[in-house]
Amino acid sequence: MLKSLFIFGVLGVLLIPAKCDLISVCVEDDNDLRVDCLIEPKPNKINSYEFSWSSGTKESLINTNVSGSSAEGQFKEKSYVEELEPHGYRMTLAEFTDKLPHNTTYMCKISGEVASVNVEREQLVPCSAVSMFLMSTCSWIVCLLLFSYQMHS
Ligand SMILES: *[C@@H]1O[C@H](CO)[C@@H](O)[C@H](O)[C@H]1NC(C)=O
Ligand SMILES: *[C@@H]1O[C@H](CO)[C@@H](O)[C@H](O)[C@H]1NC(C)=O
Repeated sequence: MLKSLFIFGVLGVLLIPAKCDLISVCVEDDNDLRVDCLIEPKPNKINSYEFSWSSGTKESLINTNVSGSSAEGQFKEKSYVEELEPHGYRMTLAEFTDKLPHNTTYMCKISGEVASVNVEREQLVPCSAVSMFLMSTCSWIVCLLLFSYQMHS
C-alpha cells in the first residue's frame, strides 16, 4: 500500500509539469509555428479562442473566433486553428518563423481564460523534439514501474 502510494507520488511529480503547461510553442518540420492551447473551456461560457503575441508594448492578434474582433491583416490566411482532443486548440502560423520578434510573449485565451508563455526566438524548439521528450519521459516511467514491481515482489 505504502509502496504504491510512493509510486503514484513519483508519477504525479513527473507528470504534473507536463500537464500544467496550458500553452506550448514549437516549430514544425516545415517551419510553421505551432501554438497549442490546452485551457479547459468553462461549460457555462461561450466557447471561443484567441491567439496573440506581444513583443515590447506591441500586441498582435493572430487568430480568433471571438465575435466582433478580428486578426491583424498580415496574419490572415497564414494561420489556421484546429480543435485538440480532449479540449483545447492548436494554432498553426506559416511564413513567420524567421520574422518573429526576438523576445515574444505568446498568449491564448479560451472562454475568457488566458495562458501565456515568454519564448525567445533562439529558444524555440522543434515540435518533433517535444514529442520525443514526452515519449522518453513515459518510457522512463514504465521502466521505473517495472523496476519497483520487481524489487518488491
Ligand atoms: C469558435 O470555434 C469553436 C470550434 O470550432 C466553436 O465551438 C465555437 O462555438 C466558436 N465560437 C464562436 C464565438 O464562434
Ligand atoms: C523578455 O520579455 C519579458 C516580458 O516582457 C521580460 O520579462 C524578459 O526579461 C525579457 N527577456 C529578455 C532577454 O529581454
